[in-house]
Amino acid sequence: MSLPHKFLENRGGILYVDGVSAIELADKFDTPIYVLIENRIRENYRRLRDALLRRYDRVRVYYSAKANTNLAVLRILESEGAYLDAVSPGEVFLALKAGFKPERILFTGTSVRNDEIRFLVDSGVTINIDSLSQLRRLLSIHVPEILSVRVNPEVGAGHHEHVITAGRNSKFGIWEADVLEAYRIALEAGVRRFGIHMHIGSGILSIEPFLLAAEKLLKIAGQIRSRLGIKFDFIDFGGGLGVPYRPGEKPLDVEAFADSMLSLFKSMVKEYDLGEPFFCVEPGRYIVCDASILLTRVNTVKVTPFKKFIGVDAGFNLLIRPAMYGAYHHIIVANKLDDVEKEVYDVAGPLCESGDILAKDRLLPEVHEGDLLAILNAGAYGFAMSSQYNSRPRCAEVLVKDGRYAVVRERENLEDLLRGQILPDWLKS
Ligand code: LLP
Repeated sequence: MSLPHKFLENRGGILYVDGVSAIELADKFDTPIYVLIENRIRENYRRLRDALLRRYDRVRVYYSAKANTNLAVLRILESEGAYLDAVSPGEVFLALKAGFKPERILFTGTSVRNDEIRFLVDSGVTINIDSLSQLRRLLSIHVPEILSVRVNPEVGAGHHEHVITAGRNSKFGIWEADVLEAYRIALEAGVRRFGIHMHIGSGILSIEPFLLAAEKLLKIAGQIRSRLGIKFDFIDFGGGLGVPYRPGEKPLDVEAFADSMLSLFKSMVKEYDLGEPFFCVEPGRYIVCDASILLTRVNTVKVTPFKKFIGVDAGFNLLIRPAMYGAYHHIIVANKLDDVEKEVYDVAGPLCESGDILAKDRLLPEVHEGDLLAILNAGAYGFAMSSQYNSRPRCAEVLVKDGRYAVVRERENLEDLLRGQILPDWLKS
């Protein structure tokens, strides 16, 4: 049984998470529970930042908060000096609470309301506009000192159709034909400093799509430079850096990514005389995905004439990726790491939907009621996409570091299901 990184260890058949027994955590805090690994978050962030910084000294890594907005995660990345990519006023609010200075926050929304624009302006964050309509509405409220434009570079990629965010069918970004117009309007209104941005999709394990799209973005930046005289404070190539979910799957080569992206960047910035822009990326998954596991207890083992099901206490209420994208999450039996894998099971959640299956046809050790499963790579878009579906309170989150641990989000209780609900007079007896 090989474990994906050094913070997950097999000690005598038991899973340890940065020095803490998974069984101890499950017994102490109950299941289901997300376990976050602080040291791995820092390591992932630094690996990427350093690979870029070794090749260019004006680099910014914006953590894409949507992957995981736990306040502790945001604090960790703030303390690393990260910047932050926010997509909603809620994410801006949380990032500010975590200590990010507004200047370090870039807001990239789509279909943004006027009251949200006002909130962003009042917060002092940098706004990355997604449509001409949003730009005009922003300028009628406030003319910012600095502004960025999200471009659709016409090249999209991603692990599933739902997460491809550029190209013909995408609702995101401004098409080339309108980009010049966007900068012209902003310039005429008095905006003085500019960024340019793209984000092509999520879960991308090869470098080619990034390069193709980056080349297109830099060409567009060159046109804006030559037609409008604009130089850029920053050029943001978005997130999307993938991570392996299956054992044996090859990780994205981050050194090769940094090498090819930065040589393209440096040569085109020079060719088009774009100034001395910051090179920016905004990864979410890459930083937090393998820094968290979801621990879930086995309630039932059910054998039918066709299948063996393991019924656990977490379902798509807590991890929707398998149901929503058919995503693979590796599962191990945290209290049986040394046992021979000899049975094939489907791992099913407690929700009343046939789609509530976390894993299909998995080879695992023989599993019994009370065993503890660990669902790996649960740190990105796990808790962040959770819900109270089937009226199941959301689970707790615990952070571990060097053998220590602390609860960083309490488990919800039944009372939380009532929160905000009001019966009208005529239904009160
Ligand atoms: N920047 C922008 C503008 C984005 O829309 C996203 C993700 C990111 C950065 C970060 O992408 P990442 O580095 O994490 O791939 N729920 C899906 C992923 C949706 C991603 C949406 N946008 C999943 O679970 O696979």
